[in-house]
Amino acid sequence: MADETKHHGSEKKYGQFHRRVFEANAVNFAVWATIAILIGGIVEIVPMFTPAGPEISPDVTPYTALEVAGRDIYVSEGCYLCHSQWVRPMRAEILRYGPWSRAWEYQYDRPFQLGSRRIGPDLHRVGNKYPDAWHYEHMRDPRSTSPGSIMPSYAWLLTKRIDPADVEASMVALRKTGTPYSDEEIASVEQSLAAQGGEIVGRLQVAGIESEPDRAIVALIAYLQRLGVDGRAALQKRGVEY
Ligand code: HEC
Repeated sequence: MADETKHHGSEKKYGQFHRRVFEANAVNFAVWATIAILIGGIVEIVPMFTPAGPEISPDVTPYTALEVAGRDIYVSEGCYLCHSQWVRPMRAEILRYGPWSRAWEYQYDRPFQLGSRRIGPDLHRVGNKYPDAWHYEHMRDPRSTSPGSIMPSYAWLLTKRIDPADVEASMVALRKTGTPYSDEEIASVEQSLAAQGGEIVGRLQVAGIESEPDRAIVALIAYLQRLGVDGRAALQKRGVEY
């Protein structure tokens, strides 16, 4: 009994000491809280810069005109509300999605599409995972390719057309924020859209799907097929194995 009282007594004293030192003084508490948050921040940020550095990578090239158009659709349709574009440095993520995302892979992503929710899977490395025709059918009716999917249908993208003037305006804006588009690239948006759109339309045709190079779905496919491709190739070149 006596021992128990003694024990409680020392615990009480410790509690008072702890509160006096760490909590009672607001300035002191703020300093300790800041230190704790900084440690948490460093632990999260440091892995992003290893083993490949934070430099502007020559291996990641700017999006083409058609991919910019597709990316604008991705943003305006709010795909980021259900999909992240960030493979985290954890084993389960790497096994499912591929190499974890490095900071430099986002160098031309303005605004970035990291996302904070995963109602659907991460899309940072979805490029080349499926054929173009799969994406076409999936966007038309997600249930047709993924039974039981809760993703909404985006069937109107199959008929909607993109306007080269909008794409050009986006590229001019991106250039202002640092994407190195040349004058020639911006002047030849229309030809660039038609050329890359034509390639996708050709592949869709082989799969028995009729479309046209200026359809929104074609731009979105171009963008999705590009995701993570440069980063994966650059990491392989640097000897990162997965
Ligand atoms: C309401 C949430 C929701 C929204 C909004 C949404 N998706 Fe999805 N998405 C899902 C779910 C759930 C899946 C997994 C089942 C499936 O394949 O449909 C998925 C799967 C996908 C896949 C296949 C990924 C893989 O690795 O298998 C792609 C590509 C995709 N979505 C693209 C998009 C695009 C592009 C948009 C915007 C136009 C979009 N999604 C909007 C929920 C959503």
